Formats: sequence, C-alpha cells, structure tokens
Amino acid sequence: MSSALSTASATRRLEGKVALITGGASGIGESTARLFIKHGAKVLIADVQDDLGHSLCQEFDSQETLSYIYCDVTCDSDVQNAVDTAVSRYGKLDIMFSNAGISGKPETRILSTENEEFKKVLDVNAFGAFLGAKHAARVMIPAKKGCILFTSSLVSVCCMGSPYPYIASKYAVVGLAKNLCVELGKYGIRVNSISPFGVATQMVRDAFGNREKKEIEEIISSVANLKEVVLEADDIAEAALYLASDESKYISGINLAVDGGYSLTNPTFSSAMKSLFS
Ligand SMILES: NC(=O)c1ccc[n+]([C@@H]2O[C@H](COP(=O)([O-])OP(=O)(O)OC[C@H]3O[C@@H](n4cnc5c(N)ncnc54)[C@H](O)[C@@H]3O)[C@@H](O)[C@H]2O)c1
Repeated sequence: MSSALSTASATRRLEGKVALITGGASGIGESTARLFIKHGAKVLIADVQDDLGHSLCQEFDSQETLSYIYCDVTCDSDVQNAVDTAVSRYGKLDIMFSNAGISGKPETRILSTENEEFKKVLDVNAFGAFLGAKHAARVMIPAKKGCILFTSSLVSVCCMGSPYPYIASKYAVVGLAKNLCVELGKYGIRVNSISPFGVATQMVRDAFGNREKKEIEEIISSVANLKEVVLEADDIAEAALYLASDESKYISGINLAVDGGYSLTNPTFSSAMKSLFS
C-alpha cells in the first residue's frame, strides 16, 4: 500500500462500516458515536433519552450518517428492532457497541443493598448487554464477520468498594464477552470489552450528588495513578475505535482497562508504609 493510501485509511479507520451504539445519546456512547462518524462509519444510536438522541442527530447533515432510535436495552423487542433498523437503514451491522448502563444507588453495604435495586442494575447492565450480543450475533453470524464491544468498568478488574449490583453486573459483562469470543470466533466475529476508570459523565455526576464536571474530574484525578492528564469520554471512544477497527483484527477476548495503570496500584499498602516512616 502506498504511503498516501495508508495515510488516508489511517485517518478514516471505519470507512464503510455500520455501528450500533447503545447508550449513545450521552457520555461515552455519544463521544464514540462522534468519533466513529469522523472515521467514516454510519452510526445508529439507541437510547431511552429521546431529546438528547434527536439533538445529537440534528448536528449532522442527514440520517445517512447518524440516526437515533428509542431502545430500552432491557426490552428484547426494542433491541431486536434496533439491530434490524441498523441493517435495513444502512445495509448491515459491523459493530455492536453495548455501552448503555446505570450506576444504581451509591449504597456499598451488602446488608443495606435492596434486592430490587440489585435486579434493576443487573437488568440494564448485564441483561441489556446479553440482549445486544444475542441480536447482534443473529445478523453477524450469517455475515461471517463483525465486532461486538461492551463497556464494562474498572470495577471488573479491581474492587473499589463499589455498590454490589454495579460490580456484579460489570463482572457479568466481562464473562459474557469472553464466552462470546470463544463461541463466535469461528464466524470471524471479534468480541472485547473496555473497562474505564472514572470519567465525569452524567452517570458519574449523578452518583457524586450532581457535582460540577470539573470538581468530579479533580476528585478522580487526585486518586488516579497517571497524573497530569484527565480521563475523558473521548479517551474511551479512542479505545473503542481501536477495538472496532481492522487495526485490531486479531484482538479478541480482552478486557481493556483504560485506567492509566490504576489497577496495578495498591494505595492502601503504600499509605500504610508512608505512615510507618512519617
Ligand atoms: N463514566 C465512568 O466513569 C464509567 C466508568 C466505567 C464504566 N462506565 C460505563 O460506561 C457506560 C456509559 O456510561 P456513561 O459514563 O457514558 O454515562 P451516561 O449516563 O452519560 O451514559 C449512559 C447512557 O445509557 C443510557 N441508558 C441507561 N439505561 C438505558 C436503557 N435501559 N436502555 C438504553 N439506554 C440506557 C442513558 O440514557 C445514557 O444515555 C455505562 O455502561 C457505564 O457503566 C462508565
């Protein structure tokens, strides 16, 4: 390939591809939709926030590039409809990004965790991801190609005293992704998950008592391993772009931590050591 051609393909890394992004009206999903479009993809965003979904679409010239569909990921027929709409509107489905999620209540004690709350968070985060994978596989298996991506969370790599429903749901997503990678490999379908550290999206702002974005970024950065940079939704979108593009054509079954090395740290141990010598 000539250097001119390789530069062109490097700048439009998803040219001709079709992506469905759940939770695409806000936060990480929205950033990923914007980046995928910049790289030549046609994107259908599926969400329950109609106003946000429609206003995002209005920024783009036509439905040819980006469109929105109402889809509650806990509802089988909604997810079926979203996948079928991507195929009927854009001709195929190359990338399924199951990203929709909720944090649930901030309660972290097992005895105070409500049973219904556990079921509700598992319903959106785990069952919703299962439905996304199931319907995407339905159209990707006959096509003998495709890429399924999930947003898990760094809580699937290291426990951070998170609420039980959230952590259980995000471990479930990783298990789903790894098993799918094994089952769907023979059809040429790659399956991966992304596990972000903290990003000051609406979900996190809600969990932090609706504090300002900047304040949340300062709190997250103060406990981060990697200093002098702030983790943003765009950084997660870049990870999704890599895993969705042909540049990662032999990467399947990984849970990519986008955490600046946080999961390798042991802050408790180092602070105990510091107190010994202070
Ligand atoms: N922000 C972080 O620090 C962080 C860290 C780790 C993982 N995550 C995960 O990233 C994903 C995206 O979250 P975000 O941080 O961008 O938050 P966000 O609130 O900005 O986006 C989440 C989106 O999911 C949608 N959604 C919620 N329930 C839905 C349902 N039943 N059906 C369809 N859509 C639904 C919301 O409407 C929203 O648009 C979630 O799975 C979340 O758990 C976020």
